Amino acid sequence: MAFPPSFIDELVSRNPIEDVVSQYVNLKRSGGNLFGLCPFHGEKTASFSVAPDKGIYYCFGCHKGGGVINFQMEIENLSYPDAVRALAKRAGMTVPEDAQYESRYRQQERLWALHAEAARYFHAQLYAPAGREALNYALGRGMHKSTLTTFGIGFAPDRWDGLIKALREKGYTDQEMKDSGLVTVSRENAGHMHDRFRNRLMFPIIDVRGNVIGFGGRIMSDEKNTAKYLNSPETLIFNKRKNLFALNLAKKSKQGYLILVEGYMDAIALHQYGFDCAVASLGTALTEDGAALLSRYTDQVILIYDGDAAGQNATKRAIPILEKAGLQVKVLQMRDAKDPDEYLKKFGADKFRLLLEDSSNRVEYQLNAIRSKYNLGVDDQKVKFLQESAELISTLSSAVQREVYGGRVAEAAEISMDAMKLEIQRARKRRAYQDKKKQEQIDLQPAKALQPKSRDIRYDNLKSAMAEENLIAQILREPALLSQVGGLEQSEFSSALLGKVYSQLLERYRQGMDVSVAVLEGLTPEETSHIAGILQRQQEPVNEQAFQDCVHIIRGEHQASGIRSEDDLLAFRDRLKERKGMGT
Ligand code: GTP
Ligand code: MN
Repeated sequence: MAFPPSFIDELVSRNPIEDVVSQYVNLKRSGGNLFGLCPFHGEKTASFSVAPDKGIYYCFGCHKGGGVINFQMEIENLSYPDAVRALAKRAGMTVPEDAQYESRYRQQERLWALHAEAARYFHAQLYAPAGREALNYALGRGMHKSTLTTFGIGFAPDRWDGLIKALREKGYTDQEMKDSGLVTVSRENAGHMHDRFRNRLMFPIIDVRGNVIGFGGRIMSDEKNTAKYLNSPETLIFNKRKNLFALNLAKKSKQGYLILVEGYMDAIALHQYGFDCAVASLGTALTEDGAALLSRYTDQVILIYDGDAAGQNATKRAIPILEKAGLQVKVLQMRDAKDPDEYLKKFGADKFRLLLEDSSNRVEYQLNAIRSKYNLGVDDQKVKFLQESAELISTLSSAVQREVYGGRVAEAAEISMDAMKLEIQRARKRRAYQDKKKQEQIDLQPAKALQPKSRDIRYDNLKSAMAEENLIAQILREPALLSQVGGLEQSEFSSALLGKVYSQLLERYRQGMDVSVAVLEGLTPEETSHIAGILQRQQEPVNEQAFQDCVHIIRGEHQASGIRSEDDLLAFRDRLKERKGMGT
């Protein structure tokens, strides 16, 4: 939906970017800009900037950027309209709602309320006579009564319509029940509704805002021919890739890191034993969305997946996803127990804490992985193990780390530390040579360096694109320049993105509206970030002559590209042939 532009203008002006960002980031002034630690990726030095005069934020590290609405979207994981609503609330403004969105939002609110009602019903059933077996199962698995309360654990009775009746009594319609995914419509018996969850121990899934958005239900035995867990299907309010179990609790932890486990039962056991920073994926492999969500609350994750082969594979896949989200990853390998739940019960919290403190980082994990591939009793396998390990260790920038890990590998392979050092040095030299070659390649092709950081945005004509970037940066700083574009049109831009931005700004200027990054519409987050980046990088003052030069270059390049139409190409080819003919 589109909010009225005048409303968005007022919203932006009543939510100064530095005020909104300050709610999340500790900002310090440096010149005209404010700087702080980027909330979107882990970092030790401040590369996150806010430019109050331009109304933008931009991180020189992870290249995220945009206006105040984009910031609200990114930081709270909100859709555009929800970010607008949040900012309106902050500034005490009333949102002119589009009927369609209003109804969608109402529908969401009804589903949240329905889920809260369902959670109450399941929880009550756990203590009803019919829930005796479930309660015994939960207690038998070591859950304390207080844990059952904290997590809102419940029981779905072995009936077809228990939940349906309870919800109907509270005034929920059949359609709402179907939309919630908690009620299933049977295919054979057209239109007949029944409870999705029957005779299962129920785990409410709660989002970071505290809304119950779905359930996981476990059978109360270890029989193999029924799916152990049944989860809510995807609904208007539930996306299993974008939420994590227990994050609503873990986000309040003071530990400074989050523990990521595979199972609901693992997360619950960890909380019960005092590890209040544990979360679990919702029965799927970790996704980029999941990693992004984690990175909003911490910069360090300790992965504790099951000790079996599946768990190890999942660990290997999760590491790069977490690192890409800017998270520091440590891996705790389960030994002597299949998962954290079992470990805690067998050995207790103190022993687990030791394991945590000792939890290996990525290097150690990777070294273990290399080691497990080879039989060190066989000479040529031992050599391969040493080479591969040296290769890995050579990537470490700290000499101390290289020494420590090199020592461990040498010990494992029963060779001298000197020999190992030599091997690491050789690997480092090779790497340095390769890096140098790569840099030379880059130096030889400066054009590459000018291409946008985001892989989704490509410039076909760099000369024109640089002028277009410059032009837009100047306009965003001095919108009055738009009165001097002399009829320059969107179609004359070589970059579709920059052309689109230009035409939006021009249109707004003509209508006397605000011209800023914050009001741009219909761009992807990468595109918005790219525009904010252009603005933050170009620091030269506005200059009318430079502005006219840009217009001139864009025009010139556009006309030149026109010549490359088919006829002209043919003429060009003929000319070439002629010249060649003359030469022979
Ligand atoms: P317990 O077996 O009771 O200890 O539960 P757990 O949470 O430790 O489960 P497990 O480690 O076996 O599985 C990890 C997670 O994968 C679970 O928490 C579920 O989210 C998911 N999962 C396991 N089995 C199934 C299944 O049969 N169906 C679905 N959809 N998800 C499952
Ligand atoms: Mn388990």
